[in-house]
Amino acid sequence: MQPQDLNMTTTVTGHQLFLFVTLADAEDETELARAIDGLGGDMENAHDVDGAPSEDAFSRGRFQLLRAEAGLTNDQQIIHPAVSEAHGMVRLECATLAPIKEYEDGLRTLIEERGGSVETLAGVMRPRSYTSHAMTQFAYAHAMPPNNGETHPLAAVTPMNKTDAWWQMDFLHRESFFLPRYDENENIVVKGHALASAAGVPSINRRLVHAPEGYGLQGNYDFVGYFEFAEADAPVFREVMAGLRDTQQNPEWKYVLEGPEWWGRRVRNAAQMLGQV
Ligand code: HEM
Repeated sequence: MQPQDLNMTTTVTGHQLFLFVTLADAEDETELARAIDGLGGDMENAHDVDGAPSEDAFSRGRFQLLRAEAGLTNDQQIIHPAVSEAHGMVRLECATLAPIKEYEDGLRTLIEERGGSVETLAGVMRPRSYTSHAMTQFAYAHAMPPNNGETHPLAAVTPMNKTDAWWQMDFLHRESFFLPRYDENENIVVKGHALASAAGVPSINRRLVHAPEGYGLQGNYDFVGYFEFAEADAPVFREVMAGLRDTQQNPEWKYVLEGPEWWGRRVRNAAQMLGQV
């Protein structure tokens, strides 16, 4: 389904790629690491910067390398080993697709010629569709901005689909899931998405992309969430995920099928991503 058929915004404000890297073996990877670092030569390394990219950096592209955090990744409903078993991941963002697609092609060549593989999750950035001015104040005005990789060393990726029943609903019904619901005496009955996850607003930096070709289609997740946070706030992230997945408090999740919740550690260069710290 297309955004215009869903009363959702049709605007695209940027592109993101999540490149999940699986290596064939653990040989000496010094040369591979040097070549991967070369792919990002013209781009900004998000590991060393605070805040959103400048217009110039966003037009050239920005990358973040991550090493898998063994033991923290967990499977949800959709089993996707090329994601859940990946050794590392490169997250790219850019105003246009071409520069990050070129990086993807280069990385794929380097990894595949060594017997490994690259699994790509792609998404487009869009303005929000269901958010009023007041919700902006609640959920975004005080939100944690992007931070460097030393301050926010942990990241989680949450690919997900919404069910056909969700996409068949009219937009007022869909929008109602983001707010609390009240009974006839105005007692709160369920928290809804924004209140169920509110604990994460000040400490979890969050980014969301949408399926590039439309929702409810094969071959792409409807949404890919990306979250960065401090080591000390990992329990807050888990609490937020538990709140969203509690369908008593957040009925929206009855219409969600999640891929793996992939955890990684942000690293500065490819040698660290490949495990040669
Ligand atoms: C940390 C606190 C969070 C707050 C305050 C929050 C709030 C919101 C709000 C207000 C929207 C509506 C955006 C719009 O107008 O289009 C939204 C959308 C969304 N959020 Fe969250 N969120 C949080 C965390 C999360 C987490 C942890 C996940 C995923 C695992 C998530 C997944 C999504 C998805 C997939 C959408 C798009 C849903 C759709 O358009 O159907 N959010 N969130």
